Amino acid sequence: MYGLLGFPLGHSFSKGWFEGRGYKYTNFEYPTVEEFLAKLPAEVRGFSVTIPHKQNIIPYLDSMSDAACQIGAVNCVVVDPLTGVKTGDNTDVVGFWGALEPLIGEGAKKAAILGSGGASKAVEWIMLQNGIECTVVSRTDNGYSSFEPQNYDVIVNATPLGMFPKVDAAPPIDYSKISRNTICYDLVYNPSDTRFLKLCRRQGATVIGGIKMLHLQAEAALRLFEAPR
Ligand SMILES: NC(=O)c1ccc[n+]([C@@H]2O[C@H](COP(=O)([O-])OP(=O)(O)OC[C@H]3O[C@@H](n4cnc5c(N)ncnc54)[C@H](OP(=O)(O)O)[C@@H]3O)[C@@H](O)[C@H]2O)c1
Repeated sequence: MYGLLGFPLGHSFSKGWFEGRGYKYTNFEYPTVEEFLAKLPAEVRGFSVTIPHKQNIIPYLDSMSDAACQIGAVNCVVVDPLTGVKTGDNTDVVGFWGALEPLIGEGAKKAAILGSGGASKAVEWIMLQNGIECTVVSRTDNGYSSFEPQNYDVIVNATPLGMFPKVDAAPPIDYSKISRNTICYDLVYNPSDTRFLKLCRRQGATVIGGIKMLHLQAEAALRLFEAPR
């Protein structure tokens, strides 16, 4: 059995995705990790982790992948069926890069990441692994007022701006300076076509929505859960 830990969970993409592939899957909607672990069924072999527990889970793990350690966030935990040992990993990076890699040219060297939360840290980590220099644009240091979109090959929206139900919101950047040479990637997956993507597409940019990342990170989690141990 697999599952998803988060709070609140609302509609979960993962449950339908795993059940559609024939796996038993439970949503574990708990405000604290302690409550979840106290009630964790013995047959659970792995679980995904979402907001607000991607960092909270770390002190309760027995080991972590290098990626999860360096990013400081876990979105997937494998449970050893014999020992109960819990290993944390981060498959957001696999999902993010899997959707970008087929579209990114050899010459792309500079990326801007809008927002500085957990998803932003995962994006920055995998970009750096692939030799792409990153600038994180944040409200807290007033980064938006001096942000020049034309200086970047890739611009990633790693904020929740534009997410359902506030679908008219978009990051406050100068869209007129985005060109057809830019790849604009929105991590938001609901709606699939966000205002950010529409504004960037209007400038001729190549756009990527968050759904492919969502699917690829789930596939990567399932591979980890099912790996022979
Ligand atoms: N497609 C996928 O598979 C996938 C995977 C993970 C996450 N996501 C999506 O990625 C987005 C970010 O996730 P997260 O976990 O990193 O979220 P988060 O921690 O809640 O927020 C990310 C950052 O966005 C900025 N931000 C928040 N509210 C804002 C606002 N009103 N205006 C401007 N900036 C704002 C903040 O950065 P500053 O304070 O520095 O401005 C914040 O740290 C969410 O929409 C999430 O659903 C998608």
